[in-house]
Amino acid sequence: MSGVLFSQSGVADPYALYASRLRDGAVQYDSAAGVWAVYSYAGCKAVLASPDAHVPRAALEGLRDEAALIGGQLVRLANPPSHATLRAVAQRLFDRLRGGGIARLTDRLLREQAREFDWVTVCKRLPPLALMDGLGFAASSIAMLSPHIDVLAKLMQPAKPAALLADLQESAKACWPVLQTEAARLTGKSDEAAAANLAGLLIQSYDATRGLLSNALLSALALPAPPASAAAWRALAQETLRHDPPIHNTRRTLAAPMEIGGVPLQAGEPLLLVLAAANRDPSVFAQPEVFDWRRENAAMHLTFGFGAHGCLAREYAVLLAAEALARLFAAGPVRLAQRDIRHAPLVNARLPEALRIRTG
Ligand code: HEM
Repeated sequence: MSGVLFSQSGVADPYALYASRLRDGAVQYDSAAGVWAVYSYAGCKAVLASPDAHVPRAALEGLRDEAALIGGQLVRLANPPSHATLRAVAQRLFDRLRGGGIARLTDRLLREQAREFDWVTVCKRLPPLALMDGLGFAASSIAMLSPHIDVLAKLMQPAKPAALLADLQESAKACWPVLQTEAARLTGKSDEAAAANLAGLLIQSYDATRGLLSNALLSALALPAPPASAAAWRALAQETLRHDPPIHNTRRTLAAPMEIGGVPLQAGEPLLLVLAAANRDPSVFAQPEVFDWRRENAAMHLTFGFGAHGCLAREYAVLLAAEALARLFAAGPVRLAQRDIRHAPLVNARLPEALRIRTG
């Protein structure tokens, strides 16, 4: 493995690699990938805060019909001037979300498992279920949308193979009428941008929250004893987001020249912001390689992004992980029942493929 773009499935410890690259320089060009990698905290934050650093829209290539209708209106893929309008649409939907059902839904999913089971199956089902339940979706809508979310979440992947584009088109076509109905219920009017961004909330929450739920479980299992209060579980989730984040990087393209970490870059240059490296920048986090859930500035991590595109769900995602893990450990001791942890073959996210655990 070499270069800035590597699959997380092939790397045992990406953090050692990030640390050594950060020591080499805050900003480095990778000629094989044709991209500038930004490793420092200050560099990543400056780019995320800049209106001249645009979100690339490669994920939209090849999308047709309903998939294009959804993708083309997603706040996550929008740039000025449309971003502000779409952000308001997504925010209004998000503001309707209630987190009160997380413990109940976790208990329901846990009741379906044997004493030994794969926690990742729960991690995949809980975030979309909690979102749809928390937004008051009809049971029939939840049943209809649920089997499609795994495919819809792949809409964000750049350079999609033809088979994936076809699957996406099929899922988007099947889900679109239900998304429109639920969006109309939430907004009080027929609203295509709201329907698209309702899909966007499901898409955005799926992989990232699944990864947080998995990685936070591993953080908890590495402690001498699990956290004993709701606040301690939230602190554990927050420090996990810094120390072993589900999302490792995000991309931008410069729309105007910008100097980053002392390196002058031209308009049009593609950037890879290595958020997981920034989260271990020693100029911001003391002893960054140490997992310390009592760390005072853990919430300064960049795993939720920053600035105009910063995540809408910073507090909600932490709450979801904290409540779900508290429910899992409430039933008795939990231990890992597998040795090696394999990660999904993704470049931007580090997501365990399976975590077999034994409970009680
Ligand atoms: C651990 C869980 C999560 C992580 C780590 C995460 C991370 C992120 C990051 C890094 C971004 C910014 C990407 C960029 O600037 O390039 C983002 C944006 C976003 N997130 Fe999250 N997210 C999480 C959960 C969620 C959930 C649960 C929701 C919805 C319920 C959500 C909704 C969004 C939306 C709508 C955006 C786009 C905002 C915009 O572009 O203006 N996220 N998230």
